[in-house]
Amino acid sequence: MPIIWRDAFSIGYRQIDNDHRHLIDLINDVETALNGEHALSRLFNAIEDLAEYTRRHFAFEERLMVDAAYANYDMHKLAHLELIEQLKQAAQPILDMKHGDAHSTLDVPQEARDALVGLLRHWLVDHIIKVDMQLKSVL
Ligand SMILES: [Fe+2]
Ligand SMILES: [Fe+2]
Repeated sequence: MPIIWRDAFSIGYRQIDNDHRHLIDLINDVETALNGEHALSRLFNAIEDLAEYTRRHFAFEERLMVDAAYANYDMHKLAHLELIEQLKQAAQPILDMKHGDAHSTLDVPQEARDALVGLLRHWLVDHIIKVDMQLKSVL
């Protein structure tokens, strides 16, 4: 099931909201690549695009927080580091398939599939609602 953008996700700062919309698209791309039969390279690219854009988005948010002398900067930055680590861990078994013989997404073990899809279902959305939302009154 794709994640659908909702107004409740908006923190009212356009560049952040646009980034979050794009990140949700990238999350959905990963899930689409995992559904049905596709080239494994498509899945690798989708995961790497998500990881890369996530790092850029977090760096952007962190710059805004520094500029605003945001009081909860340390806590928020730590949450970003944890999210990156969680994605890395959930994606690693799949990315390790680069060194194997498999070429199809049908070869991704169910356990690896469930771990990544299960994480991505709440991974960013929870952070937006609980942590990014605290920026609403600051930015
Ligand atoms: Fe964010
Ligand atoms: Fe954030």
